[in-house]
Amino acid sequence: MTISEILREKVLTALKALDITVSDPSRIQVTKAADLRFGDFQSNAAMMLAKPAGKNPREFAAELMEKISADDLCEISIAGPGFLNFTLKAEAWADQARAQWSCPDLAIIQVESPQTIVVDFSAPNVAKPMHVGHIRSTIIGECLSRVASKIGHKVIKDNHLGDWGTQFGMVTWAWKKGVDESLLETAPLQELLRLYRMASEASKEDEVIREECRAELVKLQKGDSENRAIWTRCVDLSRKGLDRIYDRLDVCFDHWLGESDYNEALAPLVEKLIADGQARESDGAIGIFSSESVKPKNDPFKVNRDGEWQDFPMLVKKKDGGFNYATTDIATVQFRVDEWKADQIWYVVDFRQGGHFEQLFDVAGRLGYDQVNLVHVAFGTILGKDGKPLKTRAGDLPQLEDVLDDAVKASQLVVNEKSRLESAEEKAELAELIGVNSVKFTELSHHRMSDYLFDLDKMVALEGDTAPYLLYSYVRARSIFRKLDEEVSLDGANLVLTEKAEIHLVRMLSRYSDQIHQVLDDYRPNLLATYLLEVARAFHSFFEACPVLKSEGQTRESRLILCDLTSKVLKDGLNLLAIPVPERM
Ligand code: ARG
Repeated sequence: MTISEILREKVLTALKALDITVSDPSRIQVTKAADLRFGDFQSNAAMMLAKPAGKNPREFAAELMEKISADDLCEISIAGPGFLNFTLKAEAWADQARAQWSCPDLAIIQVESPQTIVVDFSAPNVAKPMHVGHIRSTIIGECLSRVASKIGHKVIKDNHLGDWGTQFGMVTWAWKKGVDESLLETAPLQELLRLYRMASEASKEDEVIREECRAELVKLQKGDSENRAIWTRCVDLSRKGLDRIYDRLDVCFDHWLGESDYNEALAPLVEKLIADGQARESDGAIGIFSSESVKPKNDPFKVNRDGEWQDFPMLVKKKDGGFNYATTDIATVQFRVDEWKADQIWYVVDFRQGGHFEQLFDVAGRLGYDQVNLVHVAFGTILGKDGKPLKTRAGDLPQLEDVLDDAVKASQLVVNEKSRLESAEEKAELAELIGVNSVKFTELSHHRMSDYLFDLDKMVALEGDTAPYLLYSYVRARSIFRKLDEEVSLDGANLVLTEKAEIHLVRMLSRYSDQIHQVLDDYRPNLLATYLLEVARAFHSFFEACPVLKSEGQTRESRLILCDLTSKVLKDGLNLLAIPVPERM
């Protein structure tokens, strides 16, 4: 049980002793205090129950306080209109820290009913490059997956690659005009991008070329062997290039079921949708229309044009017989639920696709998949220093690999100046770790829906709310153990806490499990990122106020345990953010 749960039990017992009936016990809560000056935890119990019991809230709070037996644990006081405030005693905090420290999993509470959750993230488009926008999906998706499995869910990470679509007509056209085989080997993603750009430039000006590109696509979809072979190579090469990026980012998937994997399922799916009356013809194409069950302004199948609500169907088959992005997504839901028994599917995708997902989720419900929790985990835009969406000097979307390289260069400067490592090799390794992970941490420390400014120098700095600051905190907490002149065993050690800074650190550390759970309330890694920064700050204050090596006896042992516990929480928490820690910096 967590401390707040223990206190809650005590409040409920006291209410019973006062003969107060609680109609809905779940509403009686003990939460962490909003303002630490007034205590560590607070409860709304007296305020909620005073009125039905016909009592004045403050007087009732006093009565209740008398009856709560928690002398060994905390002091209780009354604040404001009748809040109960609990201030934990130093011994109780010490017990808490000891319990967390002895627990191999840092006392992280597991969910009562584990679910099977498919996380659909990253999903770049083959032959189009993975740009910096994809970083948001990749990093947020990886973090949410790690958090969900940490608390006991079964997580399936699926990279729903965009490996089927109009861009292949273009790439194939350019490929046949002149692919550079040697570049394909050394820099596959760049060469595919060059081909894509070549075709896209050429077809902009020229209707004939546009037609030729379309023809290449039709040939591919009809199974032409030459085009099929080119496509296969494109996908394989992309995969090679992507693996390199995912390696660098410490991201991995359980499956890579791309759009093409659902190709065979699409024709029968559309037939069935028509036969069941779910889809019908619209201007030569096939679409799914509104069920007319909600007001137009809440209906994803309606659009307002010139003050008038018009149909906005979800298209599942094009005029030319091809299938749509949406068709594949319907088939994908079916597969994930039927085959993988998914209870939930999280789509970590740009907010601009919100309309698509609203339609998809509605259609899934109509097809009987209404027990599945489908969530669009949306995110905003990364901005350049000019406050506009991040672009390269040439006006293109920046390539993720280039961004990572730039970050590593920036961090190399900081490492050269500040690091205590000796060899150039170690420094280069550290610069890679700091550079890449600074980009990741910056992503994860912002609210996913906010647009944030991409400022390399700021994110690799040692001061500030940055990855290097956190990594340094970890290294600092560990370094004390290298400075010990003799082996110490802390196993039987008792904790005594006397200083405010010690207690504050323990208080922060004790929140770890709660914080992890909270991330999933609204799919917000930034709650964990911010929490870890708070832990780091509490650690530095402790470290500055409380000498460790120079102290003695129980005090020294206690402080060593606090250093150890801090380093464990930081390492574990950073690992949930997919950020590895160095041992030295
Ligand atoms: N490939 C898509 C894009 O880059 C993202 C796919 C997201 N997942 C999905 N099931 N629709 O925009």
